[in-house]
Amino acid sequence: MTSFAILLLLAMHLLAVVFWVGGMAFAYTMLRPAAVGLEPPARLPLWRRVFARFLPWVGVSIVALLVSGFGMIFLVFGGFKGLPLFIHIMTGLGLLMMLLYLHLVFAPWKRFREAVDRNAFPEAAKRLNQIRIIVGINLMLGVITIVVGGTGRYWGL
Ligand code: HEM
Repeated sequence: MTSFAILLLLAMHLLAVVFWVGGMAFAYTMLRPAAVGLEPPARLPLWRRVFARFLPWVGVSIVALLVSGFGMIFLVFGGFKGLPLFIHIMTGLGLLMMLLYLHLVFAPWKRFREAVDRNAFPEAAKRLNQIRIIVGINLMLGVITIVVGGTGRYWGL
């Protein structure tokens, strides 16, 4: 029973990671260069619609990551005492990514949305640039965290 619960938690963890980090990678490396040629009145509302769909699902992924991550800490490792180093690093980087996400949602995303809705495109472009920087940082942190989480069991630390 416990091992089935661990399998479910690990599957949930991995799917949430793939959705969040994969979604950021797609936005940053595919959609952004593809949208660059569009005029601001087409490009900025497009990004508004993209993030209006993506960000709530990232919120769901974060809840899934926290439940599955801390669930595995208890079920696999029996609590926080004597945890391997990579789990500490993964948890620290994961929490940092989550704080950046919360900042993005409550500051630049809120202002970007309001600016697009008022057709204030220069202001919206400024906010979108802040969103791009935060997503870029979170994408790099996400890639590092995946490597840490996936390789850590072989570190012997
Ligand atoms: C902040 C909360 C997080 C906690 C508490 C947490 C905790 C854990 C735990 C306990 C495991 C199981 C490790 C094992 O049994 O070997 C795991 C696996 C993993 N985690 Fe996390 N994690 C968190 C966030 C993240 C994030 C943000 C990412 C990536 C962006 C990530 C990527 C991974 C990966 C790739 C594995 C797979 C390990 C395997 O191959 O078995 N984790 N995590």
